Amino acid sequence: MYQTKIAGLGKYVPENIVTNDDLSKKMDTNDEWITERTGIKERRHIKKGDGNSTAVMGVKAAKIALERAAISKDDIDLIVFATLSPDYYFPGCGVQVQEMLEIDTCPALDVRNQCSGFIYALSVADQFIKTGMYKNVLVIGSENHSGGLDFTTRGRSVSVIFGDGAGAAVLTRSDHNGQGILSTHLHSEGKHALELSLKGPSTNYWVPEIIADNPQGDDIPYYPYMNGQFVFKNAIQRFSEVINEGLQANGLDVDNIDMLIPHQANLRISQFVQHKFKLSDDQVYNNIQKYGNTTAASIPIALTEAWENGKIEDGDILVLAAFGSGFTWGSAIIRW
Ligand SMILES: CC(C)(COP(=O)(O)OP(=O)(O)OC[C@H]1O[C@@H](n2cnc3c(N)ncnc32)[C@H](O)[C@@H]1OP(=O)(O)O)[C@@H](O)C(=O)NCCC(=O)NCCS
Repeated sequence: MYQTKIAGLGKYVPENIVTNDDLSKKMDTNDEWITERTGIKERRHIKKGDGNSTAVMGVKAAKIALERAAISKDDIDLIVFATLSPDYYFPGCGVQVQEMLEIDTCPALDVRNQCSGFIYALSVADQFIKTGMYKNVLVIGSENHSGGLDFTTRGRSVSVIFGDGAGAAVLTRSDHNGQGILSTHLHSEGKHALELSLKGPSTNYWVPEIIADNPQGDDIPYYPYMNGQFVFKNAIQRFSEVINEGLQANGLDVDNIDMLIPHQANLRISQFVQHKFKLSDDQVYNNIQKYGNTTAASIPIALTEAWENGKIEDGDILVLAAFGSGFTWGSAIIRW
């Protein structure tokens, strides 16, 4: 059995900064409410005409990760792309990346596990490397949320939370036993599927029917719906469970954690988890204040930034954990 390590990381966020005050000009909200409930001060939004899309941002992050890994795009054996906001209903963004990177041909697959997407994608990549089937896998998480949110007062409890951006990791076979991804644990609970969902357009909610129904209020299927408090309660429980599950599987305990990088769902969720595990501020990396919740991109953006800021050192035990729509959740334990 081989082991997988992260050879290179990259991130890209659009230049356009949208502050809480900017949002308050479009809807009935304010900086105090958003900061107090979520910790978010600003986020990035693609600007029409700036050339960005979910796949394009993913490629920008991927190019940085490839350069840092010193691995040629021609040596990539597989692309795994996690997003809930693909450029097209089909095909997925993975094939667009393969084309934009000018890789001759390679397998490319999209993962649709929303906020847990990067952990799922990492796990998929890890299995292929462990078994020896592939050596180098490019994993991307990218989201264009601003293209599909309701920026009127009706959508304020959701639209203030989410931001655009992308992160990427190049995974490769590790030469050193004990270095790299030690474990991943994945879960889902589909009975809560609609508690955080976007129903359409889909084959169940097709465009002409949606228009004919003229939906109003919470029933508009083409905007995300989130049962915020229910999501919050489930998130804090599942984050804790899956972190413990990962630690136990490796014979580790909380004292062994050098850095926890939680999916940036909400600063209050991260702080709850931090206090539960009695971690110091230095042991938890948060950047939701600057980028909002970027769903599948949030962990790779935060991981890249933590690494760029020198917060991760060789031999560190890193815990990545996520929870989101599905519900889905997961963790990855990594020795850097
Ligand atoms: C979304 C969330 C911030 C809302 O906070 P909350 O304390 O549950 O707030 P509520 O939804 O009960 O709304 C409280 C009030 O604020 C109002 N409100 C909602 N969004 C608002 C906004 N952006 N600005 C101002 N007021 C807002 C509501 O209308 C409500 O008003 P009312 O009391 O007059 O009815 C919170 O539930 C949360 O963080 N949930 C988890 C979300 C999450 O992490 N999602 C990602 C998972 S991966």
